[in-house]
Amino acid sequence: MTLPAKIGSGILALIVVAVIVLAAALAHNSAPAPAQPLPRNAVLMRAIVYRQYGPPDVLTLEEVRKPTPAANELLIKVHAASVNPLDWHYMRGAPYIIRLERGIGAPKFNRIGVDFSGTVEAVGAEVRQFKVGDPIFGTADGALADYVTSTEVGLALKPANISFEQAAAVPVAGLTALQGLRDYAHVARGQKVLINGASGGVGTFAVQIAKAFGAEVTGVCSTRNVDLVRSIGADHVIDYTREDFTRTGSRYDVIFDAVGNRGVRDLERSLTPRGVVVLVGAAPSLEPWLGPLEGLMKVRVLSPFLHHRYVSFFADANKTADLDTLRDLIQSGKVTPVIDRRYPLSEAPAAMRYLEAGHARGKVIIGVN
Ligand SMILES: NC(=O)c1ccc[n+]([C@@H]2O[C@H](COP(=O)([O-])OP(=O)(O)OC[C@H]3O[C@@H](n4cnc5c(N)ncnc54)[C@H](OP(=O)(O)O)[C@@H]3O)[C@@H](O)[C@H]2O)c1
Repeated sequence: MTLPAKIGSGILALIVVAVIVLAAALAHNSAPAPAQPLPRNAVLMRAIVYRQYGPPDVLTLEEVRKPTPAANELLIKVHAASVNPLDWHYMRGAPYIIRLERGIGAPKFNRIGVDFSGTVEAVGAEVRQFKVGDPIFGTADGALADYVTSTEVGLALKPANISFEQAAAVPVAGLTALQGLRDYAHVARGQKVLINGASGGVGTFAVQIAKAFGAEVTGVCSTRNVDLVRSIGADHVIDYTREDFTRTGSRYDVIFDAVGNRGVRDLERSLTPRGVVVLVGAAPSLEPWLGPLEGLMKVRVLSPFLHHRYVSFFADANKTADLDTLRDLIQSGKVTPVIDRRYPLSEAPAAMRYLEAGHARGKVIIGVN
């Protein structure tokens, strides 16, 4: 073997070993770290805590220290939260790739939940846009708790015409639908838009937002959700248990896919010549390495070779202006959050179990205070 060939195979062997070590580290589940004792005079609150990755049983309701806001933060009393598939991915640490960010072996941050609504209880000296007593909604890490702290980014005043529970349903699902339809699909008045997964958390917002943009909307759902999807404004509803939307002969300018269960060849059949697919969801999978990222990445890799435009994206929860847009859509009556079930904070594991089953009708709410 020549010297360059020896060096090349040495480097290859090192890369293979590094990948195996990283894979083993990512797949490893550490034993849960014991809870730290709290100082005797600490002010406490309730929160859902997890110290190891796993099924919903890893979530426990505990007393933890009530947070204090920094100068650029607000302290918010949480009234309601909602759960998203994102939360169970964090809970399970799956796909494993997210452990690079959330913690290898065990979660670095042991709290869960993102979407919430509540009332501002205190503000740091540098907070400009909100004051004590403001009713707000938005996203903050660890939202399944009595209180959260957050900077002003990703928060907005709550729509006045809906309850705190309804407001907690909005952030992640509403932002995903809004950004997908407006920024990636560029939906225009009169276009034909198909929403796959129309009855879920994201889909129920997508149907209503596409209608608000003036589109002719077709929702795809199962038999038990046909009336729901029609009631939120879909012009046409396809029951996926009886009909395959890629074989009806209809073509769409936009397919907004919150399920990700169809291959590219099927979708191609259902697009107008300049049609676009916006893929936000991927088939539910506990396959541990890439999980739903596999479908989203496949589309990115294949898209230069396809006849149509395929886009996959992750919603940006920091776009405060988009929360304002959602508030306007809600206050004008064009969008109303759809709520499926409500659970008390202590039953967060049951809420997560229900969401994970993949058949929620609208949003699953956690009532907090
Ligand atoms: N890219 C992003 O930034 C982003 C953001 C949020 C969510 N997501 C992803 O988007 C997906 C949807 O999220 P979600 O919050 O809407 O989830 P969800 O509320 O759990 O969605 C459940 C809904 O999916 C429907 N569904 C299941 N199989 C279906 C099928 N074959 N055809 C049509 N509908 C079907 C179910 O209806 P039935 O009970 O009738 O089957 C149910 O109503 C998830 O994969 C999530 O991870 C991505």
